[in-house]
Amino acid sequence: MHAYRASLLRFSPEGEALFDDDGLLVTAPDQDGVQRVVDAGPHREVAARHPQAAVTHWPGRILAPGFIDMHVHYPQTDIIGAPADGLLPWLERYTFPAEARFADPAHAAEVAGFFLDELQRHGVTTALTFCTSHPASVDAFFTEARRRRLRMMGGKVLQDRHSPDGVRDETGQSLIDTEALIRRWHGQGRLGYAITPRFAPTSSEAQLRGAGELAARYPSTWIHSHVAENKDEVRWARELFPQARSYLDVYQGFGLMRERAVYAHCIHFDDADRQLMRETGAAAAVSPTSNLFLGSGFFDYAGAERIGMRHGLASDVGGGTSFSPFHTMLAAYCVGREGQTKPGLSLPPSRLWWNATGGAARALGLAGVVGTLQAGTEADVVVLNPQATPLLARKTAHAQSLEELLFSLIVLGDDRVVERVLVA
Ligand code: GUN
Ligand code: ZN
Repeated sequence: MHAYRASLLRFSPEGEALFDDDGLLVTAPDQDGVQRVVDAGPHREVAARHPQAAVTHWPGRILAPGFIDMHVHYPQTDIIGAPADGLLPWLERYTFPAEARFADPAHAAEVAGFFLDELQRHGVTTALTFCTSHPASVDAFFTEARRRRLRMMGGKVLQDRHSPDGVRDETGQSLIDTEALIRRWHGQGRLGYAITPRFAPTSSEAQLRGAGELAARYPSTWIHSHVAENKDEVRWARELFPQARSYLDVYQGFGLMRERAVYAHCIHFDDADRQLMRETGAAAAVSPTSNLFLGSGFFDYAGAERIGMRHGLASDVGGGTSFSPFHTMLAAYCVGREGQTKPGLSLPPSRLWWNATGGAARALGLAGVVGTLQAGTEADVVVLNPQATPLLARKTAHAQSLEELLFSLIVLGDDRVVERVLVA
């Protein structure tokens, strides 16, 4: 049993931010050796309940839940910041050539290791990531994640049409490979498999149908795709699937909407789409730095809240421009504020932070597992230094409330704030 004394940020299971200036977090290993939160709260109360725990004291630091990235592409690490005329030209010019290199297992292993180290440096302890269409890219990713004992989800991309040589897969073999990878990796320690059709335009009906059948046969797996990111993409999907009510409805038609189904972007939606997300328990991975960088549009937070569509935050690197959850939260605030093309609103800092931790966990079907530092959850913890830069030190010294403190970190913070990361 170990205890950590510092300021402590936690979340209630419903998403209320809880803060103790002088807090104590007590952890102990479970039977698999995974450190779990045993107790957490004000130092005086918690210490009295655990007099035998050895205490590490980090004065002036903040303990908080490890961040969660709901949608990212580890094979796109090296094409972050590649400019193009929007999504479809960007895929052709940069993304597919970069992903073709992952046929080489040594390249995949090297990038996967760098990616996971980079996530940890930024305080991200759980992510749902695309791999590439090559099964070796999945083996490389999970091997490196297991080595670091991280809770990670990923899967082989399915794309059997409208894709160049080097990344296009073959319908029958792609489904055989997916099932073999599910059996090899899903539920191994902290790892989870995601059935990953790239997006409807690059999969045949047979491949989407097969993916839906696997999703039904393995209900605890994730489903991971993109939808309604860009108007050209929406138009293309509507042409290819004229029988569907909407682009999102294509996925519903193939059995690809359920709990643990995660769709990146969800920008060009109507309320019927949002309703379908809510009714099926699927979740939106909101990727604001990517949407700004590729010029895709602005996620409608008011619409999501009005209908009750599950959502959380994501970097979407390499479309996204940063692995930092601080940068993502700030971009989400700015996108929420935008009020000319949709209703604008000011997302409270504690809500942005929830969307990058416990709220993202809940959207992923991981409530009670990570993201809150509630007792019983896995102890993925970041140690933050609110004085990491001169301006942050000056600004946080004057914070009058928790919301002001969190907003200072969101606006001014980055990897320099993340002093240490404790992984389970
Ligand atoms: N839509 C299909 N593939 C991709 C991708 O790799 N990135 C993004 N942002 N959108 C996509
Ligand atoms: Zn993406």
